[in-house]
Amino acid sequence: MQELWTQVDNYFGDLLVPEDEKLDAALLANEQAGLPPIDVTRLQGKFLEFLVRVSGARRILEIGALGGYSTIWLARALPEGGRVVTLEVDPHHARVARANLTNAGVLDRVDLTVGPALDTLPTLETNAAPFDLIFIDADKEGYPEYLHWALKLSHPGTVIVADNVVREGKVVEPGCNDPRVQGVRRFTELLAAEPRLSATVLQTVGIKGYDGFALAVVLY
Ligand code: SAH
Ligand code: DHB
Ligand code: MG
Repeated sequence: MQELWTQVDNYFGDLLVPEDEKLDAALLANEQAGLPPIDVTRLQGKFLEFLVRVSGARRILEIGALGGYSTIWLARALPEGGRVVTLEVDPHHARVARANLTNAGVLDRVDLTVGPALDTLPTLETNAAPFDLIFIDADKEGYPEYLHWALKLSHPGTVIVADNVVREGKVVEPGCNDPRVQGVRRFTELLAAEPRLSATVLQTVGIKGYDGFALAVVLY
């Protein structure tokens, strides 16, 4: 099926997300710098843009910047005066991201913070919160704690999006003790148990294989 998913991804991608010099340059720079090719796809980037636009988000938090590909999508969708705070643990990734964001002309709308997210998230409570949209895309082991922080840094109406919750279906593999899968399961259990959240999961297929997004909104 992968070949078909890739063909279909390219079909819609070519129509709806035609070549974009800055985004393409970011992916090339990531590759040249040896970053893993685990950015969101172009159609998924456009989905992030869609979420920013329909939610009217002005303050966005991203956990896991990599080379800033998804950050560019989020930042471009912001209204005038909006900001993205993005957290990245790896200084090399962060350097590449800073260069990509500069080249894309969005660095003036982005705060790129380097360090383990669990160390930097508490500093946002007084400075930058609350956020209108929160994109969780860092280490999967950390997802349960990131959800905790996302709630802390949110307000009623905040949209919380988490990438990679399906992981080729590993999420339902019996006895799978991969800590990343366990992180995603625990995350979903917490979503389910939290009365302040209404949540769903959207399974996805495409160039990056079979995966999915968790989507939640803060009710009160
Ligand atoms: N959002 C990016 C992809 C992120 S990949 C995009 O779609 O373009 C995941 C990133 O999370 C990697 O760069 C990794 O270094 C970072 N990461 C992993 N653990 C982290 C942590 N504890 N705190 C912050 N970032 C972390
Ligand atoms: C991985 C991480 C991601 O955020 C992703 O979208 C795909 C893969 C990974 O760590 O393997
Ligand atoms: Mg991801």
